[in-house]
Amino acid sequence: MKVTVLGAAGGIGQALALLLKLQLPAGTDLALYDIAPVTPGVAVDISHIPTAVKVIGVSGDDPSEALKEADLVLISAGVARKPGMDRSDLFNINAGIVRNLVEKIARVCPTACIGIITNPVNTTVAIAAEVLKKAGVYDKRKLFGVTALDVLRSETFVAELKGKDVDKVKVPVIGGHSGVTILPLLSQATEEDKINFSQEEIEKLTQRIQNAGTEVVEAKAGGGSATLSMAQAAARFARSVLKGLNGEETIEFAYVEGDGKYARFFAQPVKLGIEGIKKLLDIGELSDYEKNAIEAMLPTLREDIELGEKFVNS
Ligand SMILES: NC(=O)c1ccc[n+]([C@@H]2O[C@H](COP(=O)([O-])OP(=O)(O)OC[C@H]3O[C@@H](n4cnc5c(N)ncnc54)[C@H](O)[C@@H]3O)[C@@H](O)[C@H]2O)c1
Repeated sequence: MKVTVLGAAGGIGQALALLLKLQLPAGTDLALYDIAPVTPGVAVDISHIPTAVKVIGVSGDDPSEALKEADLVLISAGVARKPGMDRSDLFNINAGIVRNLVEKIARVCPTACIGIITNPVNTTVAIAAEVLKKAGVYDKRKLFGVTALDVLRSETFVAELKGKDVDKVKVPVIGGHSGVTILPLLSQATEEDKINFSQEEIEKLTQRIQNAGTEVVEAKAGGGSATLSMAQAAARFARSVLKGLNGEETIEFAYVEGDGKYARFFAQPVKLGIEGIKKLLDIGELSDYEKNAIEAMLPTLREDIELGEKFVNS
């Protein structure tokens, strides 16, 4: 298997490269690409870590060498938020970056799974889908917006608040990846058994999870957004996709093109297999609070998606 990271010299990219070097199965190839000239050096640096994952680093205008024969491409190329910005403020720069990189993927490794980390994820995934469609290689089983960080954060915050074992806490997170479109399903949170919350706890936790990215942006005071926790989330996601591709079915939450019940793209549980998504899983029974939250998020989510579709098609 081969995993390629585009944007590999960035805050997320370097941490992700390190985690993948440590966590990918022996024999996996890891290719790092970034426009930044430091990229081959990042590859040399982590290549000195004694694991059986082979690393190459490519910089410059052309990612082709890094993309050749990739099974999974993770994209974190682009700019990150500064205090006062929300994810949609990144659209003007990141939309073009994602479009150009996905055009290259469509040419060099059209059958690879693609995980998009670059924000605004609600929109950049729609851009990627339209680019792949135009190139005649779109397979919706293989395109993912990486929303795993919302799941990690939910598990951490719930365990903290309720004094639970963080290794056992599970919280589904659905919808999209910005503000009100992030919806943790606290009614389904478990630590083996169901975890109960007061209405006040549900409202406070939901808001904290929705604003967790901003919590990091503000704490970093102009130095960027979440990079280390994001890298861990993306590494976990990547391991699950590879497991699936190798025939070991796993379940992850990701922002994917599903049945369109709520919006064309929607973060939901998916079963991963040898072709990417093997099965879309049901989001289960929702509380009234969660049903209302879905209704409230849909105009924003649909607008975000349409923005991406229009960016490519007009
Ligand atoms: N999905 C999520 O949950 C999540 C969480 C945090 C951050 N993000 C997003 O991830 C992205 C990256 O964040 P970061 O903190 O690593 O930013 P960063 O600025 O540290 O790194 C971005 C990297 O992208 C590179 N780059 C820019 N244009 C490129 C191109 N055309 N080809 C290849 N590389 C290119 C830059 O050289 C830089 O090294 C941002 O858009 C951020 O909003 C997503």
